[in-house]
Amino acid sequence: MRTPTIRTRVGIVGAGPAGLMLSHLLHLRGIDSIVLESRSRSDVEGTIRAGVLEQNTVDLMVETGVGDRVKAEGLRHSGVEFRFAGRGRRIDFEELTGRSVTVYPQHEVLTDLIARRLDDDGDVRFEVSDVTVHDHQSDNPTISFVDKDGSEQLIACDLVAGCDGSRTGTRFLIPEAQVRTDHFRQYPFAWFGILAEAPQTSEELIYAHHERGFALCSTRTADVQRHYLQVDPEDTVEQWSDDRIWDELHKRVDGEGAEVREGTIFSKSVLQFRSFVCEPLQHGRLFLAGDSAHTVPPTGAKGMNLAIADVFVLSNAMATYFETRDDRGLVSYSETVLPRIWRAQHFSYWMTSMLHTAPGATNFDLRRQIAELDTVTRSAAGRTLIAENYVGVAFG
Ligand code: PHB
Repeated sequence: MRTPTIRTRVGIVGAGPAGLMLSHLLHLRGIDSIVLESRSRSDVEGTIRAGVLEQNTVDLMVETGVGDRVKAEGLRHSGVEFRFAGRGRRIDFEELTGRSVTVYPQHEVLTDLIARRLDDDGDVRFEVSDVTVHDHQSDNPTISFVDKDGSEQLIACDLVAGCDGSRTGTRFLIPEAQVRTDHFRQYPFAWFGILAEAPQTSEELIYAHHERGFALCSTRTADVQRHYLQVDPEDTVEQWSDDRIWDELHKRVDGEGAEVREGTIFSKSVLQFRSFVCEPLQHGRLFLAGDSAHTVPPTGAKGMNLAIADVFVLSNAMATYFETRDDRGLVSYSETVLPRIWRAQHFSYWMTSMLHTAPGATNFDLRRQIAELDTVTRSAAGRTLIAENYVGVAFG
């Protein structure tokens, strides 16, 4: 192996929410890092993902100087509506928890973080290839990669962060069986997502239970809406004409107090749907954060928020280690973040099972789900349980 030509304290694989926020938080503690990303900057800034930020995430962005746009352009939502049996029940987050959520798409968060990292002279390298972490169990890990211009590079670092998303390579450096356990759950459905130029169907998000399948009306701006339909995981974009989509949204959502407002669809995609947790999230000097270590179904809107929660803990542990050589925070990283990850798993699974129609669901199943939704939304305790989980428990 060649001698490293680049040195940094933390080598970060992946420029998603976890990798970029980690690099930003470390910088604020005076710790340098290099972020390696295989995609191009425009690809990272343009890929459509979910869009709900917990108040914790917004607060952290604002407190650390990357919150100007989310404050100005993010849409604050103080509640959501659950619809079932043709009518709606509102869950008032503000009243129940004193907190709210903000609709602001993930790619906008990434745009803000990249701009700030580059302003701060941060080292973020896009379009790199062959990223390989070496010797993460030694005191001197290295990362080899090929730069955008084709030159081979080798970074020497003290710690490595695996923030390379659900298509992770870094997770597999933690040996399976002896060390790593993967907990996995597949669901018998997917989400069909659209973006449409259309007026808002409602001021707040609508989560609709229907015997034909779940539907969600979300938003991006006053003129651009994001809607989802539960579909078969084998379905393709070609099978869903615009008319079929609007027709299905009307059937699943319309009723007392709600009517889906149509417009021009300009994006269609089928979203994967699964639950996954890897334990532990660390091995030697490698630390996983975000989707490389866990995936949630989108029903609870937790994915990006969990990634940010991970790196909030990880950046503190890394900074303490560099400042004082006290590695207790690093040693206990998995133990610290796993309870929050599993609570989010439970919440996302619960929301999913309460609202989706499993293939072959019987009348008994549907009536029981409606009774569950009725029980939960009728009771202040039930609504509070949803609200607390949806807005998110404070970081740290
Ligand atoms: C979204 O707007 O993309 C969205 C909103 C709520 C969810 C999932 C996705 O639960």
